[in-house]
Amino acid sequence: MSKLLQVALAGASLISLAHVGASAQTRAATAGTPTTAQARARADAIVARMTQDEKLALVHGLFPPMAKGKSSNELIPSAGHIDGIARLGVPLVRESDASLGVANQVEQRKGDVATALPSSLATAASFDPEIARAGGAMIGSEARAKRFNVLLAGGVNLTRDPWNGRNFEYLGEDPLLAGTLGGAHIAGVQSNRIVSTVKHFALNAQETGRMIVDARIGEAALRMSDLLAFELAIEGGRPGSVMCAYNKVNGDWACENDHLLNDVLKRDWGYGGWVMSDWGAVHSTAKAANAGLDQQSGEELDKAPYFGAPLAAAVDRGTVSKRRLDDMVARYLTGLIETGAYDTPVPAAAVVPPYARNAEVAQRAAEAGIVLLKNDGNLLPLARTAKRIVVIGGNADVGVLSGGGSSQVRSVGGAPVEIPLAYGGSASFARITYHASSPLLALRKALPDAQVTWVDGRNLNATVDAAKAADLAIVFATQWTTEADDVPNLRLPDHQDALIAAIAAVQPHTVAVMETGGPVLMPWIGQVPAVVQAWYPGQRGGEAIANILTGKVNPSGRLPITFPATAAQPVRPRPVGLDRLSAQEIAAAADPGAAAGRPPESFPVEYVEGADVGYRWYEKKAMTPLFAFGHGLSYTQFAYRNPVVTGGKTLSVTFDVVNTGARAGADVPQMYVARETGGTPMRLAAFTHVMLKPGETRRVTLTAEPRIVADYDVRLPGWRIDAGRYRVALAHDAADRTMVSTATLTATTMKP
Ligand code: BGC
Repeated sequence: MSKLLQVALAGASLISLAHVGASAQTRAATAGTPTTAQARARADAIVARMTQDEKLALVHGLFPPMAKGKSSNELIPSAGHIDGIARLGVPLVRESDASLGVANQVEQRKGDVATALPSSLATAASFDPEIARAGGAMIGSEARAKRFNVLLAGGVNLTRDPWNGRNFEYLGEDPLLAGTLGGAHIAGVQSNRIVSTVKHFALNAQETGRMIVDARIGEAALRMSDLLAFELAIEGGRPGSVMCAYNKVNGDWACENDHLLNDVLKRDWGYGGWVMSDWGAVHSTAKAANAGLDQQSGEELDKAPYFGAPLAAAVDRGTVSKRRLDDMVARYLTGLIETGAYDTPVPAAAVVPPYARNAEVAQRAAEAGIVLLKNDGNLLPLARTAKRIVVIGGNADVGVLSGGGSSQVRSVGGAPVEIPLAYGGSASFARITYHASSPLLALRKALPDAQVTWVDGRNLNATVDAAKAADLAIVFATQWTTEADDVPNLRLPDHQDALIAAIAAVQPHTVAVMETGGPVLMPWIGQVPAVVQAWYPGQRGGEAIANILTGKVNPSGRLPITFPATAAQPVRPRPVGLDRLSAQEIAAAADPGAAAGRPPESFPVEYVEGADVGYRWYEKKAMTPLFAFGHGLSYTQFAYRNPVVTGGKTLSVTFDVVNTGARAGADVPQMYVARETGGTPMRLAAFTHVMLKPGETRRVTLTAEPRIVADYDVRLPGWRIDAGRYRVALAHDAADRTMVSTATLTATTMKP
C-alpha cells in the first residue's frame, strides 16, 4: 500500500500528499506480495525452463469472439485470453474491461451482470483516493469471481479536450489528481490478486482517428503532463501491465515507440511489468518487440498475428534476440507474480458476487462524485415545503445514462433503455445504455409527503405547463458519449438547451441535473438557479442523485475538469480531423473491428498547450471559464485560517480548515504553486479531503508533489526545481486567488 493510501485510510488529521520517491523496482513489497525484483528473479527461473515455443505462446493473446477453436480451454466472451503452461504452473489468463466494472459490451455474455460504478470522471470528482481504491477493490473482486485475472482498468489519459468521447473513462485534466486516483484505483483492483493495467500509454487524447492520429508534443511538456499522470499512477498502484495506445506519438506508433516504452517506462521509471498492446494497435514485429512491446493483445484484431509466427521467424533470423524474447516473457510473468495473480487461481466456476454490498460501494462513489455547480438562494437541498415537484426528461423515470464502448457494464438490474447505433466508430460494440436506477422513484421514496410527478420532456408545451403548475422543476439533461467517437460539439443534443430554457422561463425554482460524459455548454445558466453535475452516476445513480437533492448527503464533489463558458475557450474547439475524414473513414479509423482495407492517412494533432492543460490554459490565456477546475459547492461552508507556508526543498502549507456552516460536510482544500516570476500558470501541487462536523476545525498540512513544482529539463535530463521565490495559493478551486503567499525554494534536481 502506498504511503498516501495508508494516510488516507488511517484518517489522520495531518494529511500529507508528499510523493513517495522510490521507483517501481526499488519499492518494498506490500504485505504478502513480492517486490518487483523478487518477482522478476522467480520469473527468470521459470523462463529458463521453457522451450522456445512455450515462450512464443505467451507473448500474443486471443480475442475470444474471433478465436473459436484456437484454445482447448473455454473462451469466455470478453477482451482477451492467453493459455497457460500447465507443466510449469503458468496460469491461463483471461482479460476483461475495465475501470467501471466487469464489462459485458453488447451483452456478449447473455445475462451476466456486474456492479457498475459511476464514470471514472465522477470518481475523480471525489478528489478522494479512498473512493477510487474502494471502487477498484470492488470491481476487482467481481472480476475474480467471474474468472478474470487481468482487468483492463486504470485509464489515466489526461483530458486535453472537453469533447473527447472517452473523457468519462478517465480521471480529468490534472496529472496529480489523475495519477493519484488512478494509482489508488489500480491498487484496489490488484488487492484481489489480479492484474490491473494502466492505459492508454500515451496521448490517446481524442477518439476521432484514434487509430491513425499522430499526437505531437515536446518532450518536456509530455513528461510534465500525460506522462506524469502515468508515472504517479504506476508508483501508487504498481500495475502488473501497461497498455500502449492506438495512436502515434511524435511520429511513431505508441506500441512500437522506443522512446516511450524503453526509455521512459522501462529505463527511467524502472517499470518491471509487461507492456500489452491495445486491441488492434500493433503494426510490426521486430520494430515493436525491440521498441518494448511485450505482448500483442487480441491478435485477431490486428492486420497480422505479428507476435505469432512472424515473431518466431524474427527470433530465428535474429532480428529479435532470444534475450529480448526471454525478457518479454519474464516481464509478463513478473506482472502476474508481483500482483499475486500467478499463485492465486481464479475459481473453476463463476461465483455470484455479493451484489447488494457492492451496490453500496457504487452508490458511495456516485454520491462522492456529484458536483453541486450552482445553488442560488439555497434552492437545494429541496425544501420540505415543496409539495408539488415535477421531474422532467432524461429517462429519469427508469434509469441513469452510462457511457459507451468497451467499458460498458451490463449492470445488475439490466438496461431499461438500450438503443443500437446506425453508424459511427463505436456502432459495432456500443449501444446507448441506461442503468436501472430511477431518480424519479428514488425521489418519490425520499419525499413521501410531496407529490412528485413525471413528464418525459418530449412535448414542449405539455412540459412547460407541468413546470408552471409545480412548486419546483427538476430537469434531467443527458449527453451520451462513447469510446471510438468524440462529440462534435459541447452543446446538449436533442434540443435540450431549448427545453431547459423554456422550463426556467416559467418556473423560477428549476434544478438542472446533468448526466454527461464531461463538460457541456450551459447557455441557460443565468436562468437556472441550481445545477447538479451527476456525470454518468452508475447503477445506483438514481439513489445518489436523490440523496444529494434532498440533502441526505451533503455534496462534496469538485470538478476534475474545467467547464468552458463558450465553445471558443478550449484549445481545440472541435475534434481534429473531423473535417478531413468522411463518416466511413471516421468509423474505420476508430473501430478496431472495422473491415480491413486501406486505412485513412495519418494526420497530426499538435498539442500546442504543452503541459498547460485544462485550467492552466485558462490562466495562461486569462480566460474565465463557466466553472473552474476544483469548483464544487456544499450545503455548508468552509474557511481556511492561519496558513503557514514553508519552503526549503519543497513547499508546504499548514492551515486550519473550519466548517463555518450548520451541517457536516467534506471539503477539498487545494494547493496551487508557480514560480513568482516568468508568468507560468499555477499548478495543483497537493489536495486533500477533509470531513468536518458543523463548527469543527482541523489543522491540515499540504505538501507539494516536487515534480509538480519542478520543470522537466531535457538537458539534465530530469526534474529541476530552480532556486527562488514561489507563489502558493491555498484555494477552493483553480481560479481562487484569495489566499496567496510566497516561499523560497532551494535548487533541487530529481531523476527522470
Ligand atoms: C480499448 C481498450 C480496451 C480494449 C479491449 C480497445 O478498443 O481502447 O481500452 O481495453 O479495446 O476491449
